[in-house]
Amino acid sequence: MFLGKEYRPVRVVLLGPPGAGKGTQARTLAKRLGVVHVASGDLFREHQAKGTELGQNAKTFMAKGLLVPDAIVIAMVLERVARPDCAGGVVLDGFPRTLEQAKALDRALGEKGLDRVVLLKVSEEELVRRLGGRLICRVCQAPYHRETAPPRVEGRCDRDGGELYQREDDRPEAVRQRFRVYQQQTEPLLDYYRTQKKLREVDGAQEIETVSSKLVGALKP
Ligand code: AP5
Ligand code: MG
Repeated sequence: MFLGKEYRPVRVVLLGPPGAGKGTQARTLAKRLGVVHVASGDLFREHQAKGTELGQNAKTFMAKGLLVPDAIVIAMVLERVARPDCAGGVVLDGFPRTLEQAKALDRALGEKGLDRVVLLKVSEEELVRRLGGRLICRVCQAPYHRETAPPRVEGRCDRDGGELYQREDDRPEAVRQRFRVYQQQTEPLLDYYRTQKKLREVDGAQEIETVSSKLVGALKP
């Protein structure tokens, strides 16, 4: 269901640990708001699929579950957000992830800045279960789950029929590293946005549709 004009333009960040459902929710939310979905991880994987230098530079960090250096990420995402299609609003997923990135985003957006930052809260046990069963479309990167969100046809994306595969960084060692990195480098952003009075929290451990409607509720002024 498309949401009314009172929600636009809207600039939203989805925060949360690996596997919290940022990608799943950001896609639906952006569609309902009629704005663009920008996911830093998806942008890096697109670069890798095309074999660009940026993709190659990011690859070693990503495979180990480490953050790609701020200068590279900031330049890539801010260039994307500055394009005309983002003027009507944007749902950011996976960016910012460090204080440096958050400050760079605030500077780029100017006086009004972000409208809302929403944290998807999920226990670590549930995150490990989700990432172990996740499959991603090679064409559009839509996430699925073998048990909780299976595709209609096994091994194929519902939207474009693309092949589904397991991400390299969903191996157990890389997942553990990504959790540590999230706690050390991204959790400090919660206080940063709390101070700005922009942070809302949503229980991300519920059914996908329930999380979606709670997320819409969290955008209300
Ligand atoms: P990125 O691609 O952003 O990965 P991530 O943050 O680790 O998050 P995930 O994509 O793993 O999880 P998600 O929250 O999107 O969950 P999803 O919806 O898929 O980043 C990858 C790497 O790129 C980083 O490690 C880093 O190296 C680099 N990078 C990216 N951005 C960067 C930045 N800003 N700075 C520096 N480096 C950066 O859902 C997970 C699974 O659960 C799916 O199978 C899904 O079907 C299922 N699921 C979702 N919701 C539910 C639900 N409610 N109930 C049951 N199952 C559910
Ligand atoms: Mg994601």
